[in-house]
Amino acid sequence: MTNGAKTIQLPQPQKDSGKSISYCLQNRTSTKEFDNTKTLSEQQIANILWAAYGFNRADKRTAPSAMNCQEFTMYVFLPEGIYRWNDTQNELVLIEEGDLRYLTGGQDYVADAAMNIVYVADYAKMESIAKESQVAMAYADCGLIAQNVYLYCASENLGCVIRGYIDRPTVEKRLNLHTSSKVILSQTIGFKK
Ligand SMILES: Cc1cc2nc3c(=O)[nH]c(=O)nc-3n(C[C@H](O)[C@H](O)[C@H](O)COP(=O)(O)O)c2cc1C
Repeated sequence: MTNGAKTIQLPQPQKDSGKSISYCLQNRTSTKEFDNTKTLSEQQIANILWAAYGFNRADKRTAPSAMNCQEFTMYVFLPEGIYRWNDTQNELVLIEEGDLRYLTGGQDYVADAAMNIVYVADYAKMESIAKESQVAMAYADCGLIAQNVYLYCASENLGCVIRGYIDRPTVEKRLNLHTSSKVILSQTIGFKK
């Protein structure tokens, strides 16, 4: 897709397509076997990211967030490298070149599937929430984002699975995250076998 470009301007997400919400709910499922011969197009990536956590109003998103903290940043692990989604510019910013998909989980399918998203919450953005509730709220917010991806994938007959099984310290180090930012969950997306 990207050939190691430093910044990839993604196409505008397609907001006027897809199957009915009832169809998507009926077909929402976790996939754990992926066809590793296919890659996602930039259009598909743009659509997935927008469905997950894109802006559907000037300053709010497709997923709700506790106290409107909007604490998530999404890191996209593709065969070409790791990218941070710059959500306001709709571009992928290269963090590290190379196929590092395997870092995002312990299951074999992680390294094979077209894309893994790592969801990172910045607790510094959650100061309006009592400290003892911040972790619970971040995980709840992440679940809502992940469900958007599940429904998008159901509509497009793509496979996906949300995953808690991820080596958080290793990934946090590799992404060079600030200490207030923590890996919450990861989600694998790709083509069904
Ligand atoms: C919070 C959460 C964490 C999960 N972690 C993993 C995981 O690490 N690895 C995995 O293969 N599946 C994981 N799953 C997917 C579940 O295995 C899956 O949702 C469950 O088997 C039900 O299947 P379904 O999603 O098709 O209904 C997770 C699901 C949730 C909600």
